Amino acid sequence: MAYLELSDVHVHYPVKSAWGTLRHVVRAVDGVSLSLEKGEVLGLVGESGCGKSSLSRAIMQLQPITSGSIRLDGEQLSGMPARELRKRRTDFQMVFQDPYASLNPRFTIFASLIEALTRRKKIKANVQEDAVAELMIRVGLSPEHMHKYPHEFSGGQRQRVAIARAIAPQPKLLLADEPVSALDVSVRGQILNLLISLTRELDLTTLFISHDLLVVHHIADRIAVMQRGRIVEFGDATQVFAHPQHSYTRQLLSAIPKL
Ligand SMILES: Nc1ncnc2c1ncn2[C@@H]1O[C@H](COP(=O)(O)OP(=O)(O)OP(=O)(O)O)[C@@H](O)[C@H]1O
Ligand SMILES: [Mg+2]
Repeated sequence: MAYLELSDVHVHYPVKSAWGTLRHVVRAVDGVSLSLEKGEVLGLVGESGCGKSSLSRAIMQLQPITSGSIRLDGEQLSGMPARELRKRRTDFQMVFQDPYASLNPRFTIFASLIEALTRRKKIKANVQEDAVAELMIRVGLSPEHMHKYPHEFSGGQRQRVAIARAIAPQPKLLLADEPVSALDVSVRGQILNLLISLTRELDLTTLFISHDLLVVHHIADRIAVMQRGRIVEFGDATQVFAHPQHSYTRQLLSAIPKL
């Protein structure tokens, strides 16, 4: 059984006029069926506006779906009662594009990480610093900085903190929506490598979203190509990269600068 199973998922946004009448409907996600096997990294790629974030927000239950179904480990997430969903939430975590927006600027790194760690289990006050230090080391940060604030870190370091927060509650599914797009080119590779090693060490099932086919090819086992709300190509990463079947995938490939 697949760990995450999407079947015929639609996310439509009604767009209303100033008078409140319905003008039209944006079909951001328009019938997506996908499955992620346990422990695999699935890369979702497509140009800006094709519906990638709408789909990931729908999986995270941050955005209601118009129709279809989303199953995690065999359980239907869409329509799950709020209390039940709160319990399941620790199982799926997300890393966003902008690490600054996903961290509370008034929280020290310690406060931010201990909050995330204690979502899964209570940690006694006298060992909290040790737990945070261990987590920081895991994502390549130096624990001596735990009492600093997000603005005192570089973009790459902040994204490491955001990744630490995401893995803290020991999730099984990780959604990364353009996690390196906002970073300096020089640190993108390091953050990607961190994500690759964490998904392996922690046996995470991962949905990795990017508009960049090259980045996705680097990290994913399988690739899904999205265009205007639909999946137009889906297959083994090396296969899709070497022998793209759909004209849109070929277009994405030809847009990659050759070295
Ligand atoms: N809340 C909303 N209301 C109306 N339309 C929306 C809303 N959110 C997104 N859209 C539209 O839905 C479509 C898909 O947007 P989405 O953000 O999911 O795409 P994306 O693939 O993540 O793009 P990007 O690569 O720029 O992040 C776009 O046309 C967008 O303008
Ligand atoms: Mg997006």
